Amino acid sequence: MLEEQFLAPNHHDRQAFSSGVGELDEYLRRFAAQQSKKGITVVRVLVDTDTPSTILGYYSLSAAQIDAVQLDERTQQKLPRYPVPCFRLGRLAVHSAHHGRGLGRLLIGLAVERCLEARKHVAAYALVVDAKGEKAKAFYEHYGFTPCRDSPMTLYLPLGCMSQAALPGRH
Ligand SMILES: CC(C)(COP(=O)(O)OP(=O)(O)OC[C@H]1O[C@@H](n2cnc3c(N)ncnc32)[C@H](O)[C@@H]1OP(=O)(O)O)[C@@H](O)C(=O)NCCC(=O)NCCS
Repeated sequence: MLEEQFLAPNHHDRQAFSSGVGELDEYLRRFAAQQSKKGITVVRVLVDTDTPSTILGYYSLSAAQIDAVQLDERTQQKLPRYPVPCFRLGRLAVHSAHHGRGLGRLLIGLAVERCLEARKHVAAYALVVDAKGEKAKAFYEHYGFTPCRDSPMTLYLPLGCMSQAALPGRH
């Protein structure tokens, strides 16, 4: 059974994780646990409960803000002219041995679900992400993320239109 867990450095095998993007693997190995401890981000991993130390994928979330001018014009008109509160999907990666099996979709769905839960208590307009390359950008656009006006490698997904039933991992 697949299960989402908080990254536990003594339990999860970070060295064996390889997504094909060195920067994302390095982050998990060297920085994720430290940054979680310091309250900079929250990192969750996906495991199969039969092999609970093997990380199949991971994502990180933190609080963020975005300039309203980065959003599309129609959205801007509805929002105040100061920085808009958001969540940031800092990193997301799937082990390369498991690409193409729907785990990326599942992780995005879980991340959005966490944001929907959190925004019941702390307001956030959108989930933003910094794509690490064109392939990653295409992946996020596939899920409805929109590139920011001045920095197209940063994308945002308004959370107001998301419902639990419409989450990517739920189909
Ligand atoms: C990008 C990544 C997370 C995708 O994960 P995955 O498990 O292979 O993807 P899935 O099997 O869940 O695919 C889900 C959907 O996304 C689509 N998709 C996958 N990669 C895509 C891409 N580069 N561009 C557009 N769509 C893509 C699939 O066709 C699938 O569509 P469907 O749900 O309509 O059938 C994974 O390839 C990865 O970890 N890559 C390396 C790290 C990386 O680039 N991370 C991005 C964060 S910066």
